[in-house]
Amino acid sequence: MSSQPRLLPDELSQRRAVTPLSRRALLAGAGAALAASPGPARADALSTSAGLHDHALRSGRFYGAAIDQTILATNPTYMAHVPVECGVVVSEAAFKWGRLRPAPELFYFAPADALMRYAEQHALALRGHTLVWHEDNPPWLAERLTSAAAAERLLTTHIRTVVRHFRGHVFQWDVVNEVLWLPDRQPLGLRDTLWLRALGPRYIDLAFHLCAETDPGAMRFINEFGLDYSWPDQQRKRAAMLSLLADLRHRGVPVQGLGMQAHLEAGVHALDQKELAQFCADVAALGLNIVITEMDVRDNRLPAAIPVRDAGVAAEGRAFLEVVLESPALLGVVTWGLSDLRTWLDEAWPRTDGLPQRPLPLDREMRRKPLWEAMAATFDAALPLQK
Ligand code: XIL
Repeated sequence: MSSQPRLLPDELSQRRAVTPLSRRALLAGAGAALAASPGPARADALSTSAGLHDHALRSGRFYGAAIDQTILATNPTYMAHVPVECGVVVSEAAFKWGRLRPAPELFYFAPADALMRYAEQHALALRGHTLVWHEDNPPWLAERLTSAAAAERLLTTHIRTVVRHFRGHVFQWDVVNEVLWLPDRQPLGLRDTLWLRALGPRYIDLAFHLCAETDPGAMRFINEFGLDYSWPDQQRKRAAMLSLLADLRHRGVPVQGLGMQAHLEAGVHALDQKELAQFCADVAALGLNIVITEMDVRDNRLPAAIPVRDAGVAAEGRAFLEVVLESPALLGVVTWGLSDLRTWLDEAWPRTDGLPQRPLPLDREMRRKPLWEAMAATFDAALPLQK
């Protein structure tokens, strides 16, 4: 078992080096799925031009998308586009406690295994999201966190069992998710969660050590939102993240990267590119990698007209990516969904006019949008990643 984390699985980074013919064969295979599926989509609706992952590979990076398990199970038209555009997939929910742990003694891997099998069938790399989060936990968990010893046993069993189950299949783990929340006024700006209350800040150390000892080959990330804009609360959160990362590194906690979720907002005009570039440089100076792990661009502040929304979303995405892709630490970009057909934003921040949002690279009919073009262009302009 390699102890060196895999920046990008070899089979993936070479996948796109295949000849166009075999790539067309790949698409034909996907087209067969299309042909078998209901609805208007046709095999030739699949683009045979380079996908976003091909553009990202030009600088040695990856592009991927989060997949909702219902889409995976019921929408072959959507899924036929995933291997065209992506080199990496991650599940929106199947790897979280809420799906994996329906009962204290039970691990329910079926939905997560379905994505793992899909990834293998299509030579896609798989991100694991997430081992520790304050949301989407089963009701029984809080009831069982009756002492530090009980909490340590629960966390240890969970991480060892899950990471072992996916060992050799998951190449990057979001070990802990959204651990900062400064309004909670906890030490280090940590979020007041059931894990912090049960174990104190060392729950983060424990999670990383458990992941490292169970699968040394998977790269380990701390994943966070709200690190993107020049608003004072996000400036404070970036400072808190740098302090936390420095503290973890200083104490030998095996964190290897920062996941910036990058849930962006079109029309806010609050992206200070110099500040963002400095933050990326400060993360890199700690010897850490960066992955953009959940990028989407909310358009709920923009007028209803689709051309206006698509232009605003593309401009925000470009302004953000042209900064982070300058960073030699930036390994790849994952959007939280591939097509507007499925976005969590319509649940989390719906538009007041009730229109479905357009935050992702493909529209609801799986057609490439201005955001797709902006992403492809910024990938093409990126400096090569230093291996
Ligand atoms: C979201 C999923 O997309 C939803 O389907 C689910 O209902 C809630 O969680 N930040 C994260 C992700 O780290 O895990 C969240 O995913 C979106 C915000």
